[in-house]
Amino acid sequence: MTNKMMIAIDGPASAGKSTVAKILANELGYIYCDTGAMYRALTYEALQQEIDLENEEDLIYLLKNSEISFEPSEKSQRVYVNQEEVTEAIRQPDVTNSVSVVAAHGKVRKELVIRQQKIADEGGVVMDGRDIGTTVLPNAEVKIFLIASVEERAERRYKENRLNGIDTSLEILKKEISDRDYKDSHRESSPLTRAEDAVLLDTTRLDIQQVVSKIKEVVASKSILG
Ligand code: DC
Repeated sequence: MTNKMMIAIDGPASAGKSTVAKILANELGYIYCDTGAMYRALTYEALQQEIDLENEEDLIYLLKNSEISFEPSEKSQRVYVNQEEVTEAIRQPDVTNSVSVVAAHGKVRKELVIRQQKIADEGGVVMDGRDIGTTVLPNAEVKIFLIASVEERAERRYKENRLNGIDTSLEILKKEISDRDYKDSHRESSPLTRAEDAVLLDTTRLDIQQVVSKIKEVVASKSILG
């Protein structure tokens, strides 16, 4: 019996976090919160409004005036900014390649972390991102750190892109993923790091259901211990 836990799933780009987190939340009857989508939504808005992505003050002003919300849907979660649906727009390459710059601003992170903590307040949440186990939900009962090789992650993103009509070569994807890993791991504010108490799970050569099962084993062991 799982007692409304907080489950934090972190790891680098395209390690399978959101796919796995969504399924897990569904199976446990928990809320799913994709924190990367929040950084992406702000990036999308900033690009739309031609705001300089290096300008932290302008970004924070924009963020304070942007309500970012989620709505569950069968296929995936819908994302809205001020009631405008941005679900697909935030996955386009222009946003993907700019989001690390936006996510590096300390004030932006502080505001989004507060919003994420509010979402998780009641428990019963699966939240994925880069700093969930370390910063957003340091008291989460279950912390998972997912990794996979760059090659495998690029291949997964390639297949996903093809389904969404995005045409980027495998080589470019590998480079983009390595670049994003570097930026996410080396920024000053809350860099991507594994929490000491996070369970490390290498998803290379595992399919989605195998990863979900492994996480459920961790959840079950915490339920018994808790
Ligand atoms: O998981 P994703 O690819 O949708 O994340 C988009 C970007 O946002 C990624 O470059 C890292 C950043 N991010 C972050 O810094 N902290 C989070 N909690 C989630 C995402």
